[in-house]
Amino acid sequence: MPQKPNSEWTIRLIKSPEEMASVEELQRIVWPGTETDVIPAHMLLAVVHNGGLLLGAYVKEEIIGTVFGFPGYYETPDGPRLKHHSHILAVHPNWRGYGVGFALKRAQWQLVRHQGIDRITWTYDPLLSRNAYLNIARLGTVCNTYLHSEYGEMRDGLNAGLPSDRFQVDWWVFTKRVEKRLNRRAPLKVALEDYRNADALFLEAYGDQYSLRPPEGVPPMTGSLVLVEIPEDFLKLKDTNLPLARDWRFYGREIFEIAFKAGYLVTDFLYENGRSFYILTQGNSTL
Ligand SMILES: CC(C)(COP(=O)(O)OP(=O)(O)OC[C@H]1O[C@@H](n2cnc3c(N)ncnc32)[C@H](O)[C@@H]1OP(=O)(O)O)[C@@H](O)C(=O)NCCC(=O)NCCS
Repeated sequence: MPQKPNSEWTIRLIKSPEEMASVEELQRIVWPGTETDVIPAHMLLAVVHNGGLLLGAYVKEEIIGTVFGFPGYYETPDGPRLKHHSHILAVHPNWRGYGVGFALKRAQWQLVRHQGIDRITWTYDPLLSRNAYLNIARLGTVCNTYLHSEYGEMRDGLNAGLPSDRFQVDWWVFTKRVEKRLNRRAPLKVALEDYRNADALFLEAYGDQYSLRPPEGVPPMTGSLVLVEIPEDFLKLKDTNLPLARDWRFYGREIFEIAFKAGYLVTDFLYENGRSFYILTQGNSTL
């Protein structure tokens, strides 16, 4: 794998079977463990030949990241409507934190807009702070859908051991909100302090970094703003203390389900001095 910092990377559509084989290889690196969890080249090819999108980030001819999705439908009162569902975003471990994930999603956004589709959905583990920050704060998705054990028992190295609960996020690709977020280098800095001054309800974790515990009990949710803390590095916490990780999983399930039922919507995410908070707002989304 090429080393930073001097290599330049570019993004392009992946079309050939040979390039798709390298996407298989990248999946094995990012989700180590089971061969059956890898999407094979022939399936990628079939999807791409039928409206799906597969993009790669490359350093010279070496793949360092990929994003993959396909058209699908969702139900509305007026009948089924077209959307794009994004199934995989992966960046090689040596290349994380350099904007590759953001750039891949941005390229996907452009292509889906070009197809005339206005909504992209995908799922992610709501306890992963880095993913939350990228998806919600940087890309401008919103979320009010909590899925229980969406993928059943998962066996790969990142997911084994816990129910595969997920947020399903909505990326409304033609909105000002999304355009603004994508055209800014960094999200507008609203600090934790500002939320405290705005009388937001804070659900704060306690303890130190790797024994960080969720709050006990769920207080009545009131007001227009709620901040829900999650661990900064849930995967490390899971490696060192699986029972505590499980507590977090069930706490997250409870808190977000109550909040979504009460009409809250996740509209932002704050990552400040090693602390991670979802921002939930009541009422209209800021679309
Ligand atoms: C999720 C993933 C694709 C992100 O790719 P990436 O190239 O590292 O992402 P980017 O560099 O574009 O953005 C990551 C952002 O998270 C921020 N970040 C880093 N650690 C963080 C943390 N613990 N909490 C919150 N934000 C964090 C970075 O600062 C960066 O933001 P910035 O650009 O404003 O500085 C990559 O980590 C990955 O492949 N993970 C494993 C597979 C996975 O989880 N895929 C997605 C679900 S299918």
